[in-house]
Amino acid sequence: MEIQHALNCLAVLPLTLFLAACESTPRQPDEPFPMSVELRAQAIENIAESLRNSVEIAAGRFPVAPEDGTWEFDDGGWTGGYFAGMLWLMYAETGEQYWREHAEKYTWLLEGYKSNVDMSDIGILYWPSCDLGYSLTHDERMREVGLAGARSMMKRFLPGGGYMQNWGRLGEEDQMGFVIIDCLINLDHLYWAADETGEPSFSQAATSHAERTRVSHVRPDYSSFQVVEFDPATGEMLRGFTKQGYTDESTWSRGQSWGIYGFTRVYKHTREQKFLEAAMSMADWFIERLPPDFVPYWDFCAPGIPNEPRDTSAASMAASAMLELATLVEDPDRANHYRRTAGKILASLTENYLTRDLPGRNDGVLSGGTYFYEIGRSVDQANIWGDFYYLEAMQRWPE
Ligand code: GLY
Repeated sequence: MEIQHALNCLAVLPLTLFLAACESTPRQPDEPFPMSVELRAQAIENIAESLRNSVEIAAGRFPVAPEDGTWEFDDGGWTGGYFAGMLWLMYAETGEQYWREHAEKYTWLLEGYKSNVDMSDIGILYWPSCDLGYSLTHDERMREVGLAGARSMMKRFLPGGGYMQNWGRLGEEDQMGFVIIDCLINLDHLYWAADETGEPSFSQAATSHAERTRVSHVRPDYSSFQVVEFDPATGEMLRGFTKQGYTDESTWSRGQSWGIYGFTRVYKHTREQKFLEAAMSMADWFIERLPPDFVPYWDFCAPGIPNEPRDTSAASMAASAMLELATLVEDPDRANHYRRTAGKILASLTENYLTRDLPGRNDGVLSGGTYFYEIGRSVDQANIWGDFYYLEAMQRWPE
């Protein structure tokens, strides 16, 4: 496994840099468990304060990721569900009407996406907004919007290829072959629609997409490609490459986290062992290469490690996934390993990566996120998805 990864990295890096960037980090199995009830309480209090601030600044727009500490906004994009979702999670945490009112407001602001067949991220938009909101309020209108969105998503399923079209307008020929590992996160919404309606076509499409991703994006050593180009007619893998990572053969940290999180959820819905294996093995690969403070650099093979930006959103997402994974694996030692590692990640994020500890204005909760390194977009800043997974992980901890 190591050899495969070494070959991948050697193709793009001098040996010394490869060793610095991609080697495993030895761990002490009996290191103390650093998360505590007190640290969790402090974290939730800090998230609540930051979120109130964001609600005031946002005024009906959706915060995405800051530049120079100041939120940039859009009308929902691919990340709007995370803002609504944080508001719902905070309502679930506190029961306070303030959070519910704003969660409802931002959920309804996403309604227009329900019939948009030209974007692939309705699942990411609607799982944390409509589905979560419906589970907390039983408001039937949210269920209806969620189901309409799921039906629009299904139009992008390519039966020949066995996957959901990710990029481009519906049916746009030169975009139909591309699938990013990130798209796994959309599948929860299809499984939700299957449960709500009893229609198996939703879950069949989701599982087919997950399987294409498992056999193509996940390399034999359980590192990952961010993007795979398929033959849309047959689902044959033509090539793997990157969009937001360092090189085609390196491993973009957030891509690895999308995989850990996504396959954990797919296993929870399907109970197919191969998805549990994928989630565990990708998590093991990730954990073995974490730096001493348990927060990954933006790419595991970034050439200037240790002087490279981190990606705290990859850390918070992986921590949240590991806490769920720990509830699904049968081996108690392995479950404990994931739980302990998630605790260390959360403790490190809370002690070392909060925007509130930085000078000047810094919107969002977690500093040190990297949206898109290559184009310099929101590097070493907060982002809304990293904050969502940090809150979700805190709520999952200790279980
Ligand atoms: N799904 C886009 C990203 O992770 O930046």
